[in-house]
Amino acid sequence: MAAIERALFSAPFQRFAALLEEARRAGPERIPEPTAFTLATCADGQPSARMILLKGVDEAGFVFYTNYESRKGRELLANPRAAMCFHWAPLELQVRVEGRALPVDSAEADVYFATRARGSQIGAWASHQSEPLTREGELEERVADFERKFERRSVARPPHWSGFRLSPERIEFWKGMPNRLHHRELYRRSGDGWQVEILNP
Ligand SMILES: Cc1cc2nc3c(=O)[nH]c(=O)nc-3n(C[C@H](O)[C@H](O)[C@H](O)COP(=O)(O)O)c2cc1C
Repeated sequence: MAAIERALFSAPFQRFAALLEEARRAGPERIPEPTAFTLATCADGQPSARMILLKGVDEAGFVFYTNYESRKGRELLANPRAAMCFHWAPLELQVRVEGRALPVDSAEADVYFATRARGSQIGAWASHQSEPLTREGELEERVADFERKFERRSVARPPHWSGFRLSPERIEFWKGMPNRLHHRELYRRSGDGWQVEILNP
């Protein structure tokens, strides 16, 4: 309990970074994808959710990358309000984040795209993410086309592939406790700072 009390009023970003580090240190056998989270979006009243990998976090927000023409990309461009949920089961930890996800600038996206494996870079061109495949071999043919196009040169970032930065208005830390009397700390943005409340489990 002492550790929880000490952590209680630390800034939520530092708190998140410390928990992510704890999840990483748990090792790939216990937590294979420590940066994985569920992203929920909603453009027209029907929420949709899927797994995404977190690629950066700082005081400005949580960064992830995707295809802007995918379902999630279109939904976020129409309505930036979104929610993220991390779950590190072996640590009995959950973190929920809500806020607005806005496009990162293109220079930032270029820097990240350049760090990706070449196969993933080609895949970003070849995949019309979330669109139906209309015939067998279509995707493989587009992969081959883009491999030819970028032969012996670096792969440019596709204009439809970039990042979002979710700037949080609420961050809730959940820690599993005996008898389901779990500990929930909700941080709500208030001016330049945060208001903290402890919620019933
Ligand atoms: C563990 C995991 C991580 C994933 N990470 C990403 C990611 O970072 N970006 C992405 O576009 N899709 C990622 N995906 C695929 C998405 O879950 C989803 O299938 C895809 O983006 C299409 O979603 P949409 O049709 O809702 O746009 C990941 C899937 C899994 C299971």
